[in-house]
Amino acid sequence: MPFTRNELKIFSGSANLPLAEKISQYMGLELGRIELGRFADGEINIRIDETVRGHDVYIIQPTSPPVNEHLMELLIMIDAFKRASARMVAVVMPYYGYARQDRKARGRDPISAKLVANLLTVAGADRVITIDLHAEQIQGFFDIPVDNLWSFPVFADRIKKLEYRDIVVVSPDVGGVKRARKFAEKIGAPLAILDKRRPKDNVAEVLHVIGEVEGMTAILFDDIIDTGRSLVEGAKVLLEKGAKRVIACATHAVLSQDAKERIMNSPIEKVLVTDTIYQEELPEKFEVLSVASLLGETIMRIRKNLSVSVLFR
Ligand code: R5P
Repeated sequence: MPFTRNELKIFSGSANLPLAEKISQYMGLELGRIELGRFADGEINIRIDETVRGHDVYIIQPTSPPVNEHLMELLIMIDAFKRASARMVAVVMPYYGYARQDRKARGRDPISAKLVANLLTVAGADRVITIDLHAEQIQGFFDIPVDNLWSFPVFADRIKKLEYRDIVVVSPDVGGVKRARKFAEKIGAPLAILDKRRPKDNVAEVLHVIGEVEGMTAILFDDIIDTGRSLVEGAKVLLEKGAKRVIACATHAVLSQDAKERIMNSPIEKVLVTDTIYQEELPEKFEVLSVASLLGETIMRIRKNLSVSVLFR
């Protein structure tokens, strides 16, 4: 039974309207009407063009680049919905920007992931839904429910259809092992791990490969492609160690600076990413898989008080 408009409403910020449209289509709803604008000085101005009084409101807004713009817009939207007497405001942030600054790695570092959590909560968010948080512990930065979904079922469906043989799933660093293992288990493949270090920000160096990759199709499975250096350095080392080919899967295609060119000029054969971050156009090596049905199904399950974890068995 599709939900009716007076129970649940979905609104989109400006970060990823196509994804929001797909989610609402999956749920049999129309997107809520909202105007997102700017004052002359650049400050964000929004107008909600329909009632939300007593409604459950879901805002779709990944905090992708330009992260500060999208984050501020999200905070202002939450504020407006709370002041308009929404019963509950859930923030659907398929990509959680600033997640990588989740601890003091060096003295006097900020913990920006926690600051973002504080900002969302103070603005009035009642719940957060996100996908492949860079570090699961970020859930603990909130005192409201956080549903951290996994993207691996979306990738697993596609990889099974591509019918590669002798697959080994490779985690590009130790931090990503749990995520990669879940994917490996889903497609019935063994796991290998890269020993990566970062001599400085945005520079990746792969020192060792832990596990067997010779003669295999190596699937690097990461949460984020930012500059693309982790994947490209990883692919080179895997091929040196005898992998037959390297495929990459990554949930969030941030693709900063010259990441696309770096990947196009690399030996990586194919790159699967999701639409957590809006992409205007990607070179032919890339394929975009949608997380819309995963998010739509999750919202419906939350609404009906049904299990969400059952989606990841
Ligand atoms: C790092 O811990 C993340 O999981 C990604 O591997 C990283 O953010 C990718 O960054 P880049 O593409 O710049 O190497």
